[in-house]
Amino acid sequence: MSHVRHLYVHLPFCAYRCGYCDFVTLVGRRGDHGSYAAAVLSELELERPLLTTELETIFVGGGTPTYLERDALTGLLAALPPASELTIEANPETVTRELADGLRRAGVTRVSLGAQSFQPHLLEVLDRHATPDIVRRAFYHLRDASFDNISLDLIYGIPGQSTADLERDLEAAVALQPEHLSLYELEAKPGTRFTHAHGEELGRQAEAMEDYLERVVDVLRSAGYRWYETANFCLEASRAGGRDLRSLHNLAYWRGRDYLGLGIGAVSTVSDRRWQNAPRLRPYLEALAERRRPPREVEPLPPEVRLRERAMLGLRLDQPLLLASVDGALDGQALRRLERLALVERHGEDGGATIELTERGRFVGDAVAAELIA
Ligand SMILES: C[S@@+](CC[C@H](N)C(=O)[O-])C[C@H]1O[C@@H](n2cnc3c(N)ncnc32)[C@H](O)[C@@H]1O
Ligand code: SF4
Repeated sequence: MSHVRHLYVHLPFCAYRCGYCDFVTLVGRRGDHGSYAAAVLSELELERPLLTTELETIFVGGGTPTYLERDALTGLLAALPPASELTIEANPETVTRELADGLRRAGVTRVSLGAQSFQPHLLEVLDRHATPDIVRRAFYHLRDASFDNISLDLIYGIPGQSTADLERDLEAAVALQPEHLSLYELEAKPGTRFTHAHGEELGRQAEAMEDYLERVVDVLRSAGYRWYETANFCLEASRAGGRDLRSLHNLAYWRGRDYLGLGIGAVSTVSDRRWQNAPRLRPYLEALAERRRPPREVEPLPPEVRLRERAMLGLRLDQPLLLASVDGALDGQALRRLERLALVERHGEDGGATIELTERGRFVGDAVAAELIA
């Protein structure tokens, strides 16, 4: 059963809570950081038989992993199995030169920095504590610590944002020359205080999303980035000494590979099962202190569900999908209709036939995939 090559570790603690965020997070709780890191390592021991000895990727996400109390973070990173790519998420205000050096020493190969925006008025709407200068300083600390694979997260569709604001954000991000950029449409969950506060304006922003994405793709391509996934861009290999700078961890998700998730709220997908750990801290700590699996919800994953997911996610990539690998998940009539509309292209014959979204199809990718997948 030791076949899983991708590991996700969830570190939920944050210094504060941003109004728009719907991830499993906990504010503060400095006193719990050490026992949480120990619990994650106990969970790793319980699940280790699922993993290959050399992993391809590990992604330490949050929450704010770089907010974890220093000894707890160092101890955790040191105890993780070896992996070719080890990514950690960081909030700008937590990144000092000392932290950056520590991450490098701990074997981290890639840092994903949550910039979100470079406009003070938009950072304020998002409740962010980092100013644009703090974001830049964090980036330089990482570079000075010789990180050569840094990703920036930006959000667009923020209440009060204009196309000019978005262009300024893209310009500021590109000026830092990150290897990778993630551009997320703001998702505001109904019923939250954030949605209440910005209701009408969120509606206006939602209508502009497609135009925003066109702008994003246009600007980033001109700056030498490859639009390799709906929301993700990496420096073209030709500008990066031939390096493939895509997020290998996220590629594994998009290709429908198995992965193991550790920590509260973490999801795992292994063979014909998916489970999600309960998002509650105390029961997690208590179970693992006794070397028991934490409370979790398990669901069966029939092959047809995995196939549909593989098709849905695979179509987000800029590479053709082997038709045979998702056969049975697609609606043949819808495929022919979408081909006529020049939203999908089919190439090759029989066993070697592939499909991919056209450029136009990629801008409305979710709608196309929803129609295409039976
Ligand atoms: C799990 S968060 C952790 C990153 C880190 N804590 C931070 O805030 O910088 C990863 C990324 O998800 C994105 N994100 C979080 N909430 C979002 C939302 N409601 N809509 C769109 N993107 C969101 C942000 O760009 C964020 O950097
Ligand atoms: S710091 Fe990141 S994870 Fe924490 S609440 Fe804000 S967006 Fe969410």
